[in-house]
Amino acid sequence: MVPDPWPANASFGSEGLRLAGVSAGSLAEEFGTPLLVMDEDDVRARCRVFAEAFPRVLYAIKAFTAATIIRIAQEEGLGLLVASGGELEACLRAGADAAGIAFHGNNKSDRELELAVRSRIGLVIADNPDELERLDAVARRESIVQPILFRVAPGVSGDTHAYLDTGGLDSKFGTPLAEGQALDGVKRAIAMPGLDLRGLHTHVGSQLLDSEPFIRDVDAVFDFLAEVRDVLGYEAGILDLGGGFGVSYTDEQPPDVPQLASAMLEEVRLRAEERRLPVPSVIVEPGRSIVANPVVTLYRVGGVKEVPSGRTFVAVDGGMSDNIRPVLYGAKYSVALAGPPRDSASMRFTIVGMHCESGDVLAESVELPEDIRPGDLIAFAATGAYGYSMASNYNRVGRPAVAAVEGGAARLVLRREDPGILDRLATDSPPEPVTRPPHGVEIRAAQPRDAASFHSMWTEVIEEGLVRSQEVSRPVRHYRMLFRRAWTERSAWIVAAFGERVVGLVSLSREEHPVTAHVASLGISVDAGFRRRGIGGALMSEAFKWARSVGVEKIMLSVYPDNHPAISLYRKFGFVEEGRLVAQSKKSYGYLDEIMMGRWLGDPQA
Ligand code: LLP
Repeated sequence: MVPDPWPANASFGSEGLRLAGVSAGSLAEEFGTPLLVMDEDDVRARCRVFAEAFPRVLYAIKAFTAATIIRIAQEEGLGLLVASGGELEACLRAGADAAGIAFHGNNKSDRELELAVRSRIGLVIADNPDELERLDAVARRESIVQPILFRVAPGVSGDTHAYLDTGGLDSKFGTPLAEGQALDGVKRAIAMPGLDLRGLHTHVGSQLLDSEPFIRDVDAVFDFLAEVRDVLGYEAGILDLGGGFGVSYTDEQPPDVPQLASAMLEEVRLRAEERRLPVPSVIVEPGRSIVANPVVTLYRVGGVKEVPSGRTFVAVDGGMSDNIRPVLYGAKYSVALAGPPRDSASMRFTIVGMHCESGDVLAESVELPEDIRPGDLIAFAATGAYGYSMASNYNRVGRPAVAAVEGGAARLVLRREDPGILDRLATDSPPEPVTRPPHGVEIRAAQPRDAASFHSMWTEVIEEGLVRSQEVSRPVRHYRMLFRRAWTERSAWIVAAFGERVVGLVSLSREEHPVTAHVASLGISVDAGFRRRGIGGALMSEAFKWARSVGVEKIMLSVYPDNHPAISLYRKFGFVEEGRLVAQSKKSYGYLDEIMMGRWLGDPQA
């Protein structure tokens, strides 16, 4: 029996931590660290608890925005709450039902509102009168009447971290109930032809451990609903009470969801009766309480260091990039040795990350075996909410991999992020290096007499396994024929010749389709005995010359992820990673991913 905050299907035994029957050690072995591991059944169970307790539940995807979780939430009957156009697109791409999506946020752009309206999402939660105006204009332009909720700030605060407190009057979220502002907003919303006001929205705050703020929220909203009815004659059909249901990270006592739900729904019923209002249909928007506890993070220890202050640091291979919460909110986590238990006594450690920042402390005063050492695995509990979704690439660290475990089996649901992919965001290509072939090597268009020499070099290059081909499938005469027309509008075959010997070749060929004819694909190879002398660079320069002479605007290539010398040459010439094709090559020994790199030659503005 493993208590909160660990996942429902976690246990600690002789092998150490097991998650849904899979040992932490084997997970780290298979997927690497840092690794987030999600107990899928636990996520489903938590969705079901909410779905059974409340009439309508939206999973706030900001807590953990992963296609797998979006899909699970939908399968368990939950709708989705999004906080940006990006989150909305993530839901739509995951195949979510648009009618079950609600979109909130204190400053949605016109583009985001347009996307929402065009996608026919179920509800837009309008934050303030300015947004009502903009949304109404968008909806009318699209000839759609958009169902909305109007968000009010109830003036209720939750007992939580100041950054997580959103329901007070001094908040950027919602329109304050005070001074007639919200009343004026509702009045305007009712009058707008592009909008169909279905009800009100509130959200008190996050990580609330007590029922009291939720109840006060209901009371405050009903005072307002009565006023709205008396002044405007409008009665709300929906009351969205937001999210914020607290969870256990260390020793907190989270509210029991079914009990809290009964209390909230009962309060709504009583207040409606008291005010002689129809009982609105209640929506809630849990995020954290769905995903926090089912997920653990596994880190590998890299070093242990005692400092004169008396603290002993345990450094792990992640940190503030995969979990900013300790630094940002002073959040505390439960930490345990994830490998097999030790007999040694325990002592207190400070767990630090690998980032270039003294504040990169993940946990203080954590009890671990005193002989903790490099290579040990440690686990943080309850890291599923706002860890991955708030992750950064500080120090060019890629986001961790995420695996799901279920019934003794594990599968990867989010690949580890290759930080190299960030290079593709750079729009400024480096100046092309000035390259000259080494003494005695000539760079020129291929000629028929090069065919035999190229054929033998190519045979050797293929044996190294760095190129796509696994065997030379064409005879010499095939190349002889190709080399007869080595520099045309469509393609180029350029060799590096050392006397009569071909020691390198670059080939380019334009795409067939008219809309991709501005793109040429490139392949390059250099004889193993002639590498590191600038031949690759000289071939590349000549390739660019051909491309520019025939009006090619972009060059594409594919490279195997571990071919570092080639990747580094491509980067030097301004190629950036544009994507990765998974298992794109099938070789006799297995599948290989291909990294696609592109180099823009034309002027994007032209
Ligand atoms: N609904 C609205 C309108 C919200 O603003 C939020 C969260 C939720 C629902 C979901 O709240 P939850 O059930 O997850 O507490 N980054 C912070 C939490 C920020 C919450 C923002 N709004 C953290 O790491 O604790």
